[in-house]
Amino acid sequence: NGAGAKAGKTRNIVEKMEESGKNCVIFYGSQTGTAEDYASRLAKEGKSRYGLETMVADLEEYDFDNLDTFPEDKVAMFVLATYGEGEPTDNAVDFYEFITGEEPSFSNSNDPPLGNLTYVAFGLGNNTYEHYNSMVRNVNKALEKLGAHRVGEAGEGDDGAGTMEEDFLAWKDPMWAALAEKMGLEEREAVYEPIFGIVERDNLTKDSSEVYLGEPNKMHLEGSAKGPFNAHNPYIAPIAESKELFNVKDRNCLHLEVDISGSNLTYQTGDHIAVWPTNPGQEVDDMLDILDLQDKRDAVISVKALEPTAKVPFPTPTTFDAIIRYHLEICAPVSRQFLGTLAAFAPDEDAKTEMIKLGSDKDYFHDKISKYHYNISRTLSVVSGGKKWPSVPFSAFIEGLNKLQPRYYSISSSSLVQPKKISITAVVENQLIPGRSDAFKGVATNYLLALKQKQNGDANPEPFGLTYELMGPRNKYDGIHVPVHVRHSNFKLPSDPSKPIILIGPGTGVAPMRGFVQERVKQAESGENVGKTILFFGCRKRTEDFMYESEWEEYKKVLGDKFELVTAFSREGAKKVYVQHRLKERAKEINELLQNKAYIYVCGDAANMAREVNTVLGQIIAKERGVSETKGEEIVKNMRAANQYQEDVWS
Ligand code: FAD
Ligand code: 2AM
Repeated sequence: NGAGAKAGKTRNIVEKMEESGKNCVIFYGSQTGTAEDYASRLAKEGKSRYGLETMVADLEEYDFDNLDTFPEDKVAMFVLATYGEGEPTDNAVDFYEFITGEEPSFSNSNDPPLGNLTYVAFGLGNNTYEHYNSMVRNVNKALEKLGAHRVGEAGEGDDGAGTMEEDFLAWKDPMWAALAEKMGLEEREAVYEPIFGIVERDNLTKDSSEVYLGEPNKMHLEGSAKGPFNAHNPYIAPIAESKELFNVKDRNCLHLEVDISGSNLTYQTGDHIAVWPTNPGQEVDDMLDILDLQDKRDAVISVKALEPTAKVPFPTPTTFDAIIRYHLEICAPVSRQFLGTLAAFAPDEDAKTEMIKLGSDKDYFHDKISKYHYNISRTLSVVSGGKKWPSVPFSAFIEGLNKLQPRYYSISSSSLVQPKKISITAVVENQLIPGRSDAFKGVATNYLLALKQKQNGDANPEPFGLTYELMGPRNKYDGIHVPVHVRHSNFKLPSDPSKPIILIGPGTGVAPMRGFVQERVKQAESGENVGKTILFFGCRKRTEDFMYESEWEEYKKVLGDKFELVTAFSREGAKKVYVQHRLKERAKEINELLQNKAYIYVCGDAANMAREVNTVLGQIIAKERGVSETKGEEIVKNMRAANQYQEDVWS
């Protein structure tokens, strides 16, 4: 059972709400924290605008067989992310299986079972995946079937189109209006009330042993970190090796070897590794500056939840510097709603008016802020013309910014070849943005770049490299360690190595394919009968970004005719050549392989490449088998359902 099984903590939501005087619970099914953040925002708004007594609840921490006793005059909200191939998030699996099960068994025999339940639903999905928002859709259907009453539409946010935030904002206002009517709530002028209190701890200094300086939990603080290492507890792994894979000046692609031998971590070929990043020094300074906290950056503070159901998202006592550097997503795009909240604390009337306008006018917000990818500190500075914002309660940032999230990478090594070393292949995010003088830089990949430069003792770090606090809390990371954990994935080679495989991995999509090919080489060396392995790889130019070029030749030496690399260099000729064009050229062979039960794997860009590959495969099958394109698509669908077609894609 989940964390809620801890002694003394009830798993009965009805009882919990009764005890704490709540009339609105917002459940979240969250993998990376976004759904959880939206749930918190709903809780906050329900309280400040409508006087609801709200609480946020992790689905994993409650049972649902008594949902039929949920009081009629209360409301349950469900904020549900869809994960991967239409799956529930890890914390929502039990709830999902229960509620969508054939006949969920409830504590009473009401008919319909959930006739008393009033609910609200919002889903977070990505339209580049086939099972778009299937979680909220299926849960909504199940709740309706059980007789529950939904208020407002079941909202759907789309990360694929990049409209998640606007979808959420457009959904919530009519929902609140409908809920207010149903529950007889009066709307009032929202007054900001902090959820967290900041207490200065004058008796402590930053060097005191009980002060958290970025350590994620108590074991880390005490220097006794041990497994299980997971999304709450990273392993601080040494970097055994790191190098550059590209041969160009303005782009970087990193290869890192992360040593897990000092831990009980394990992985399987095809799994993901999560990297816990640190924010860049300049961004931390800018944030402290604009809040006028520079002088207090190392002052020790405790953060306390002012409401019994709120949780402080990091351990304390700590410092402003550590919170900003290690726990808040300060580089991410700002939310329009958040700007509205901050308006009340603007340093002057002009800034206040501007913030209100930005918060309420979507197009104006786009033109002034989101078009330039401004983060929070830059936005505040632009709005106030550089004036500081000392009056904003720090709690607002803890509530309004996301928690700094680990980033996932498809492991690019085989666990059969190197069980205690994990390879990462990551392209460094460094985008020029029209109208902005500096480039937008990804948090985790620039952090990894800085680690690589440090590890190699580069005398002249790349001119556009950022500076990071690489030593980590109390110098424990010593600059060549990186906090990580491993996440299991379903992207797996067939258990029978003699099955043929078709690998499609352009760009960094080649990462898990390298692991697969390494694994087959090892199997062949051990005398196993290894099936045909064709890898379709694409990049811009042979001389620039042809990753692992010499390795493929080595693998070929072992696998011989069993291995073939097909390349698509997109920027060498007048016309773009992509992996799917190469697939088409080999339509006959691909079709034959598929008919011989070859497994097909696609990794990399979800938005365009993976979709187009999917379409092309349908076309190939249709043409070669003499069936309609619709039938071809259906065959591809069935291959997916049978796991013969597997994807590891991101956008
Ligand atoms: P971030 O700081 O997270 O920024 C990433 C993007 O978010 C930016 O490009 C931008 O579009 C947007 N963004 C961020 N901040 C702003 C802002 N202020 N304004 C507007 N837009 C903004 N990557 C690899 O290189 N190799 C892999 O093998 C790999 N495998 C993956 C496997 C999985 C399952 C997943 C989910 C992702 C994988 N990725 C991989 C992607 C990786 O997780 C990261 O997303 C990527 O490295 C960028 O991280 P970052 O922290 O550097 O960038
Ligand atoms: P491009 O950048 O020249 O358009 C790795 O990023 C490779 O994938 C590059 O060669 C890139 O080409 C290519 N690529 C871009 N869009 C693609 C798509 N829709 N399908 C397949 N490959 C694509």
